[in-house]
Amino acid sequence: MTDSKSTSRPNKRLLYRRDLLRFGAGAIAGAGAVALGRSPQKSSQAETQLADSRSFDVEGDRSLGARAAAKGILYGAAVRRSNLFEDTAFAARFVQECRMLVPERAMKWQALRPSLDKFDFEGADQLVDFATQHDLKLRGHTLVWHQSLPDWFAEQVTRQNAEQVLVNHIQTVAGHYAGKMQSWDVVNEAIQPKEGKPDGFRNSPWLQLLGQDYVELAFRVAAEADPDAMLLYNDYSLDYDTAEDETKRNAVLRLLERLKSRGVPVHALGLQAHLDGEESRQFNPVQMQRFLREVADLGLKIFVTELDVKDQRLPANIEQRDRIVAAAYEDYLTAVLAEPAVTAVLTWGLSDRYSWLSDVRPRDDGLPIRPLPLDADLQPKLAWNAIARVFDQAAQR
Ligand code: G3I
Repeated sequence: MTDSKSTSRPNKRLLYRRDLLRFGAGAIAGAGAVALGRSPQKSSQAETQLADSRSFDVEGDRSLGARAAAKGILYGAAVRRSNLFEDTAFAARFVQECRMLVPERAMKWQALRPSLDKFDFEGADQLVDFATQHDLKLRGHTLVWHQSLPDWFAEQVTRQNAEQVLVNHIQTVAGHYAGKMQSWDVVNEAIQPKEGKPDGFRNSPWLQLLGQDYVELAFRVAAEADPDAMLLYNDYSLDYDTAEDETKRNAVLRLLERLKSRGVPVHALGLQAHLDGEESRQFNPVQMQRFLREVADLGLKIFVTELDVKDQRLPANIEQRDRIVAAAYEDYLTAVLAEPAVTAVLTWGLSDRYSWLSDVRPRDDGLPIRPLPLDADLQPKLAWNAIARVFDQAAQR
């Protein structure tokens, strides 16, 4: 083993031959579609993707975390406390592959705030201790969000006390972990142009209680509470060549410009990147790179914070499905990591054994989903190869 974080991965030569054998067919299918007088556009998405006969060859057996670190990029994943402490095999794989940990649930208001006057850090502290023990960097998620608010919030937080409640929460939580966090998602998902509010703001409880200024307030209080942590604005649906995502990219860019123009301590943008294997055709690398350059030109870094690839409606055949998912990872990360301001990549989970998508986007055919780098047996999939290849080919940060 060259690196304590090495992993066993598919046999290159075997993969290659199987590749050619299996997916040469796809090329024929694609060609077949054309031969059948159907323009490539018309051939089914899966056929088009099947025709994609790239091989996901990868050199050596270093972990994703090691490959990324070699380029000055941080790789990590989201994790639930229960999965880490009740599944030792999973915990060992997590430490092997990752250099950074972000709590999937444990640092949200719902978990930390049993009541208006109480904080419960027990679960989150366990994750922080685990990360410290295993030399993993930590991301905090999230100080201000419209979801996962505790039941008492709607009853007890009013226009009169909302500012004090928000300031107290950020001071206490960011203060409690001060000096331990590589970064915080200070404000999560504040933009939703579909809701028709000025500047594309989401009509969240925070907007209703405090107006748009809650975002600036949150960043200023977080910077005071933990001057060492990078402070992020984090959001989703910023990825595809669709009118909706373009409108959202513009609204997020306007928000970041306003914050920077007012000297608000925001240091980076978080691209959640919950991708959809079915939408791969909608991904436009040039458009994405233009957006990322505009963000970088504001002096901001960029993190990919919650990457996964939904396979809900992809072909049932596992190899075909894994191929499409791996291609989505490779295409997205290749485009995004071409921007030097992108310095961290986190997947929203590490293994198909534990993914929020199992609950929220299960497959109609009842087959287990496969959105993440490792399969449910903690073995690397083509998606793992795809991510490893992109890290290996990335420019040094
Ligand atoms: O805490 C309750 C627990 O008391 C109850 O017994 C249990 C019964 O189901 O539910 C627990 O609440 C769960 C909550 O996480 C805990 O924070 C909810 O059911 C569950 O739906 C919720 O899911 C999380 C969701 O965010 C809401 O917090 C997912 O695991 C998590 O993957 C998801 O992550 C979000 C990011 O934070 C932001 N971006 C999108 C991403 C996916 O939705």
